[in-house]
Amino acid sequence: AKPGPVLGIETSCDETGVAVYDCQRGLLAHELYSQIRMHADYGGVVPELASRDHVRKLLPLIRQTLRSANLRMDELAGIAYTAGPGLVGALLVGAACARSLAFALDIPAIGVHHMEGHLLAPLLESDPPAPPFVALLVSGGHSMLIEVAAIGKYHLLGDTLDDAAGEAFDKTAKMMGLPYPGGPLLAKLAEHGQAGRFKFSRPMTDRPGLDFSFSGLKTQVLLAWQAHGSTPNAQADIARGFQEAVVDTLLIKCRRALAQTGAKSLVIAGGVGANRQLREQLYAAGEKEGFRVYFPRPEFCTDNGAMIALAGALRLQAGQTQGPEISVRPRWDL
Ligand code: KG4
Ligand code: ZN
Repeated sequence: AKPGPVLGIETSCDETGVAVYDCQRGLLAHELYSQIRMHADYGGVVPELASRDHVRKLLPLIRQTLRSANLRMDELAGIAYTAGPGLVGALLVGAACARSLAFALDIPAIGVHHMEGHLLAPLLESDPPAPPFVALLVSGGHSMLIEVAAIGKYHLLGDTLDDAAGEAFDKTAKMMGLPYPGGPLLAKLAEHGQAGRFKFSRPMTDRPGLDFSFSGLKTQVLLAWQAHGSTPNAQADIARGFQEAVVDTLLIKCRRALAQTGAKSLVIAGGVGANRQLREQLYAAGEKEGFRVYFPRPEFCTDNGAMIALAGALRLQAGQTQGPEISVRPRWDL
């Protein structure tokens, strides 16, 4: 592919994200439309509605992004889109749009892995990490520790056996009566909670290994909520205890992964990476224990088009090509 600006399109779930990234000039523009308010009425993402809303919003958002990047459509050098994993209908909207535009413009299009997008999001920041590093990917669908030997060379060190970290946040929030999407709300509540009133276990930290399990923690919270839910400040105090348990567990496993691989850099990505306590504690641990910690800015922790534009631009720059068919992979291992 020739060098130049690459359009990135993210439509795997409930956010329409569009951005332009250029390997020489960096991020030129990014726009996001969130469907969260629409899905909130149903208590979760309704796949059919998500697809329709992507159809409605994607082209206007592309136009807006090109305008803010001060680019004409025919100045694009390539188009990247999320090919999976995610909701099949939602993915197809982005894939069909990206492939059709690329076909019309006679430029390459490339389908990228959503989690690779998350993983590379810290490269959007100044002073980016360089491989080798360990990456902790914590989103609504994944909790993984990955050894990154080089861009495109990923080795899975640990995975969740049940709920993902973000899913645990969301389900715990729902249990305590918080509206959808509960994760960020629970995190906000936790900031006002009293530390130490509720102490939950740190799952799977008492044995070797890098896998996670968060569903038992959810049960502990449910029992605490049933027993103490009517006492003053119970919601915030339980949220605090829960968040501390998750953050502590993630920290313990990150430390282990760094020791096991000998890496000196740790990259955090995915929606849970926006969690303030997680960010503060990992930075503090890194400073004390001699490893460097890299987070994307919070808006690039959650789903966005910038990370897809970046991941696609790097792959196109490396000479990767794909056929013209419109294909998506709702299930896809990194
Ligand atoms: O990466 P993301 O936007 O979408 C997926 O690919 O899943 O992650 C969304 C997840 C949700 O589960 C949400 O509750 C969680 O990230 N999340 C948070 C915070 N902000 C978003 N969890 C804890 N603390 C936050 N501040
Ligand atoms: Zn995501």
